Amino acid sequence: MKIGLRWFGHSTWMVNAGGSRILIDPFFNQNPSSPVKASEIKPHFILISHGHFDHMADAAEIANRSQCPVYCNYEIAQWLGRKHGVTNTIGMNIGGKARASFGELQMVAAVHSSGLPDGEYGGLAGGFVLRLGGTNDTHNLYYTGDTAVFGDMAHLARQGIDTMILPIGDLFTMGPEDSIHAIQLIKPKQVVPCHYNTWPPIAQDAQLWAESVRSETSSVPLVMNPGEQIEI
Ligand code: NI
Ligand code: MN
Repeated sequence: MKIGLRWFGHSTWMVNAGGSRILIDPFFNQNPSSPVKASEIKPHFILISHGHFDHMADAAEIANRSQCPVYCNYEIAQWLGRKHGVTNTIGMNIGGKARASFGELQMVAAVHSSGLPDGEYGGLAGGFVLRLGGTNDTHNLYYTGDTAVFGDMAHLARQGIDTMILPIGDLFTMGPEDSIHAIQLIKPKQVVPCHYNTWPPIAQDAQLWAESVRSETSSVPLVMNPGEQIEI
């Protein structure tokens, strides 16, 4: 199956799998890296990794306009309903799986926080493993969300990860050095960096990072530009 992956800068992604547009961590209008505005986006699914504004600032507007389901943790699902009238939510928690037309998604652990924009409790931060496609042709995509590197990531390597998306910005998440450790734990076929260069405190040299990935891991680094779409 052909899978398109588009980056909007920071940690916002659109996965296009068999015609299903899956929007991950919508942050457009206040995202200095994004070449598009939230109003231009119409997904079939929205996934939210945690409650921080730089991962869900535009979620409610896009969800209400697109009438698409929102997969997120239970606390964020409740908050979206109570505060923004978003009714089509699927509240999950760490370890839980859900079926969708594109395949399966599982919410997995992240080591991070998840406070909501108005200060409310936002549950636990997470990541997602997407098993895209059917039984004979599955592409496993691991989006770590915001996280530090942690040893329990390693168990995800057992299922075989084709593409890993991970942060390299440091300060709020793992930085470039720790990301190499995370890649060594997961051993994905290819790895895409994010959550860097959005603002000066998380500035990184992605080409330098890519050289380290090539010399210290067996994974192929794919460095993208904001707005770019690739096939994975
Ligand atoms: Ni965060
Ligand atoms: Mn973040």
